[in-house]
Amino acid sequence: NVPRAIAAPLLSWYDAHARDLPWRARPGANAPDPYRVWLSEVMLQQTQVATVIPYFAKFTARWPSFEALAAAEDADLMAAWAGLGYYARARNLLACAREVARRGALPETEAELLGLPGVGGYTAAAIAAIAFGQRAVVVDANVERVVTRLFAVPDPLPGARPKIRALTDTITPDARAGDFAQAMMDLGSGICTARAPRCLLCPLRDQCDGFATGAAETFPVKAAK
Ligand code: ADE
Repeated sequence: NVPRAIAAPLLSWYDAHARDLPWRARPGANAPDPYRVWLSEVMLQQTQVATVIPYFAKFTARWPSFEALAAAEDADLMAAWAGLGYYARARNLLACAREVARRGALPETEAELLGLPGVGGYTAAAIAAIAFGQRAVVVDANVERVVTRLFAVPDPLPGARPKIRALTDTITPDARAGDFAQAMMDLGSGICTARAPRCLLCPLRDQCDGFATGAAETFPVKAAK
């Protein structure tokens, strides 16, 4: 398993099979809208893609920019958020929009993003990569599953997390870091699934140590009870 051999086949697969999600750049556009990337990443923090999509449509129709959202009434925003849960996210969303409107733009680096209301380590990395093309190591639960399989990581979660992060770093390319991150998410959600991974459809099968063991689905390893 050569780390550098991962990104190229994964990105080719993504070019053909990426999910068409409303916060991603439209074909032909050269960059996604940072507002839409930020809004989607906050909504996706504890909520599944299918649930987020209609809320994302409602929010972007009503508040199409940081400036528009910054001017929202608290009660209107809380009402629009109803059903998504984790209501601290909605309060932070408004605080962050007001901060960004005051500054004039969303900052572009992971370090600066990390200081904003509601933006933790995962979200800062995802926004830096997806909205601004910065090389950032983006690890969510899907990516953890893909990486523990690719490298047949023997240690159970959560202890394996530093190793998973380091391995993800070794396979993250300098170019197209945002596409790479989203390709890992799409692979984890559609192919490298928890129970019955569809290894025969996987673009990384030949690089995958977990597939080579014949039991990719046993990763990530569960801690003994
Ligand atoms: N989950 C969190 N961020 C995501 C994204 N950009 N695409 C798909 N799933 C995600």
